Amino acid sequence: MEYVDLRSDTVTKPTPEMREAMAEAEVGDDVYRDDPTVNRLEELAADMLGKEAALFVPSGTMGNLIAMLVHCQRGDEVIVGNQSHIYLNEAGGMSALGGIQPCAIKNQSDGTLALDDILASIRTEDVHHPITRLVCLENTQNICGGVPLTPDYTRQVGELVHRNNLYLHIDGARIFNSSVAQNVSVKDLVEPADSVMFCLSKGLAAPIGSMLLGTSKFIARACHLRKMLGGGMRQVGVVAAAGIISLEKMTKRLGQDHVRAKNLADGLRQIEGLVVDANSPYTNMVYLNLSADAPLNAHQITQRMRDLGVLVDPENPGRFRLVTHYWIDDPAVEKTILAFKRSLDL
Ligand SMILES: Cc1ncc(COP(=O)(O)O)c(C=O)c1O
Repeated sequence: MEYVDLRSDTVTKPTPEMREAMAEAEVGDDVYRDDPTVNRLEELAADMLGKEAALFVPSGTMGNLIAMLVHCQRGDEVIVGNQSHIYLNEAGGMSALGGIQPCAIKNQSDGTLALDDILASIRTEDVHHPITRLVCLENTQNICGGVPLTPDYTRQVGELVHRNNLYLHIDGARIFNSSVAQNVSVKDLVEPADSVMFCLSKGLAAPIGSMLLGTSKFIARACHLRKMLGGGMRQVGVVAAAGIISLEKMTKRLGQDHVRAKNLADGLRQIEGLVVDANSPYTNMVYLNLSADAPLNAHQITQRMRDLGVLVDPENPGRFRLVTHYWIDDPAVEKTILAFKRSLDL
């Protein structure tokens, strides 16, 4: 059966154009920095985000980890959101591999970290305290609804962070979704950050890879750490070729995913038993709960949906996140709405 797969935008397979570019990619040994396709991808990414330099890394998780390892010493502390991917879903890498301690503070419902909370969490100089070194923001903030953070908010955090001699890193796994949703340039969104990671392998549909960006000095050290972590790849232009298409073409079509997410949410709002979050979607993620009197739980509905050809991933027994992406077209949206209706119709 051909499934409609809304579990995540990470399920995107490469487009036919990507597969062709991958087959024809000019390659070299990237550990020697000799791969022309990787070099082109890195220059393009740095140019689009307005940063001095970029590094192609195998995953978003490795990109975030490398950023923390460059900015921090062992025993330092990083201020992160308690709903952030770095804190919840990166296997504790900063602590296990960097000896870095997270200081998790509350994500507000709009995905932000309150400026007062950040300020209050910065350690004073005291022999008993770890040294606060870094603040991490996530844009779009996934668990808070795929909500975009604004350039203005990011600038305020940047000012606070730099006034206190800290660094700012942005986990921008979906930074292009944020840029498209707000109709602002991605440069504006990341200008205050000392480092940024974004993913090619989510809504931008490349099969593998993320980009890490910062100053040339930061990237030189990041390259060293990538090697240390086993992330130095060889003729990886084969993969970078898809990433170039992600940046040149796929960034320009993300708005379609946002429109389809909205159509999906509008359709689901008509179904008894489902309660779509009030402002959902902000970008390409629809979050919804089952109503208290729903006849089945989310796991049972997931199984029924699978039987009807639609893959969804329950967040918990009463909640779903549905993610639109390149491979979700209008008929897929219709099929999903119908499958939810049938799954709840006992
Ligand atoms: C917000 C966010 N940051 C980072 C990552 C990590 O990316 P990767 O799966 O490539 O390691 C993800 C993955 O879903 C994510 O959603």
